[in-house]
Formats: sequence, C-alpha cells, structure tokens
Amino acid sequence: MNNKQKILVTGGLGYIGSHTAVALQEAGYEVIIIDDLSNSELFVLDRIAEITGIKPEFHQIDLKNEELVNEFFRLNSIDGVIHFAAHKAVGESVQKPLMYHKNNTLGLLNVLEAMKENGQDHFIFSSSCTVYGQADQMPIDENAPIKKAESPYAKTKQMGEEILEDFVAAFEKNVISLRYFNPVGAHPSALIGELPKGVPNNLVPFVTQTAAGIREYLSVFGNDYPTRDGTAIRDYIYVCDLADAHVRALTRLIEKKNKSLMEVFNLGTGIGSTVLEVVKAFEKINGLELNYKLVDRRAGDIIEAFADNTLAEKELGWKPETSLDESMRTAWEWQKGLK
Ligand code: WQD
Repeated sequence: MNNKQKILVTGGLGYIGSHTAVALQEAGYEVIIIDDLSNSELFVLDRIAEITGIKPEFHQIDLKNEELVNEFFRLNSIDGVIHFAAHKAVGESVQKPLMYHKNNTLGLLNVLEAMKENGQDHFIFSSSCTVYGQADQMPIDENAPIKKAESPYAKTKQMGEEILEDFVAAFEKNVISLRYFNPVGAHPSALIGELPKGVPNNLVPFVTQTAAGIREYLSVFGNDYPTRDGTAIRDYIYVCDLADAHVRALTRLIEKKNKSLMEVFNLGTGIGSTVLEVVKAFEKINGLELNYKLVDRRAGDIIEAFADNTLAEKELGWKPETSLDESMRTAWEWQKGLK
C-alpha cells in the first residue's frame, strides 16, 4: 500500500501533460491520467513508463461525458487535479467555436462538478498568456488587463478562469491558474515531445518538420512588425521548465491547504525572441540550414508578448533555466526520433 498522493492529470498524454506526468512521478506523486486520445497517442503512456519506470494508471474518458467523469471521481480518492485537457489550436477554434466551447468549457465544468461532489479541493488550470491579447506594456505581469479575446480558444481560457473564481468562492476551493507563454522543446530523453496532428499551427513543430523534410519550407508570418528584425516576438519557455512549475504549484496547494484562494502565475522565461531569432537558434545549435520564406502576417497574431515571471519565482521558487538554444536542440532530437 503506497501512501503517495494521487494526482489526476487530465490530457496527460498530450504535450505539456505528459512532461508534467513525468515530473510529478519523479517528485514522488502517484499519477492517474485521463485522456480522450482526440489529440494524443497511446504510446506516450509507455514512453512515460520508460522514462520514470512507473506506468501511470490510464483511463480513456471524454470529459464531456458527465456520468463517466462523476464515476471516476467517486471511485478514485484524488488529492489534486491538474487540468490540461482542452483543444488548443487558435485557427481551428475560429472555424469551430462551438466544438471549442463544448469541449473546453463543458469538460472543465464536469471536472469541477465532480470535485465538488466528491470533496476534492486542489485544482491547477492550464491557462495561457493569450488571455492578455496584445498587452500594452512589456514584460507582461499578472495584473495586465485581460483584453477581449482574439479567438474562441482564448475565450475558453478566459471563461475557464472566471468559472474558477466562482468555484473557489462558492465551495472554498484552492486553485492555481498557470498562464503559459509559448511552450517549446522536448524531454532530454527524446522519448516524449510535441505531437501535432496534421499541419502544425505552432512555430517550433513547423520548424522541426521543415528540417526533417516533411514540410517544404517554413513560412515566416510577417517581417514588417515594429520589432528589431521585423518579425514577431514571443517568450519561448522550455516544456520541462513548465512541467517543473506545475509540480511546484501543486505542492504549494497541497501543503498550504488554503481555502477559497485562486492564484495566477505567468510562466515564461522573461525573454522575448523574434521568429527569425528562433530560426537562427535552431540552425546554429543543430548545425543545419532551414528553408524559410518571409510571407504576409497571419491574421490575429499579436506583435509582442514576453513574461514578467517574478511572481512565480517569488511564490513558487520557480526559475526557468533552459536556454532557447537547448530547447531547439531537444526539439530536433525529438523530431529525428519520429517515424
Ligand atoms: C509563434 C510565432 C507566429 C507558425 C498560440 C496560442 C497560445 C499557445 C501557443 C497553446 C508567431 C509565428 C508560427 C509558422 C510563423 N497555444 N509563426 N510561422 O500564436 O504565439 O500562441 O500557440 O498552447 O495560447 O495563442 O504561437 O507558435 O503559433 O506562433 O512565423 O508556421 O511564430 O506568427 O509570431 P502563438 P505560434
């Protein structure tokens, strides 16, 4: 009988979820994963086991199914929940807003309802810097105004945080919302990483697939932005540093046992990098040349976003150490291992 605390990771076979599952196990937690496999692969479960030596318990459940979610929480005594499960493609959300609201918001509501019914208190929400839209000043801290969402995806993150505020107040729960900037890279073992389905929306998987010859060239969306080289600026945070922040946040919730508290933390490096700087870093660290073209801006893109991460450092003791170069090296190692 182990006395490890049991943590539910929804979306735990996905990109950030799988890296967080590894970090949780390495920190001594027992991990249970729920995933509906709509945007992830089952082999990731074995890869987690290969890295840590422990295969997480896995349930294939669609969180939109209220009955199945309730039954899971009734049958499992969970000490904390980290909720990643959501659709996350900005462009797709514009085409399919109802699918995004149904999946992201109904899924969240079913988990919260089940937690309330079964007396679970600790919840971590996977949020995004996209809630800030184009912030007025850099770096962006947690008090930056929440602007009108530019996409249904972003709206589901804003609405999720608003729902959580009510959940915390009404039922004396304890919540942390983590607002990621741009997650990149892969686990040093190259056994887990980003697995985009179809044509990648995000920059780095498109870069690695171009380098692998899967894509003919990378389109750099816009080089007429008011930035140092004309291309847009983002804060690229290494996925394992992000996973570490989740472990620290969860430990804070469980150890502090605060009631009726919702905290928000920006998770970024605090460093802005342009698209061309990412491309150059990838080329340099991996010793190869990337085929790219400068094309028009992508609709809905913001010019610049990078984090003020001092609150997470102060309250979570979290310090992202990994450089953009190292993130690009791990991303390429992972891509090379894919069939
Ligand atoms: C980064 C930069 C593009 C692709 C979104 C969501 C955020 C999070 C990450 C889920 C931009 C440029 C991209 C390409 C390019 N979502 N780019 N060519 O849009 O900052 O953030 O994804 O976790 O919540 O808002 O990320 O990687 O799509 O773009 O030039 O083929 O790279 O224009 O400047 P984004 P991204």
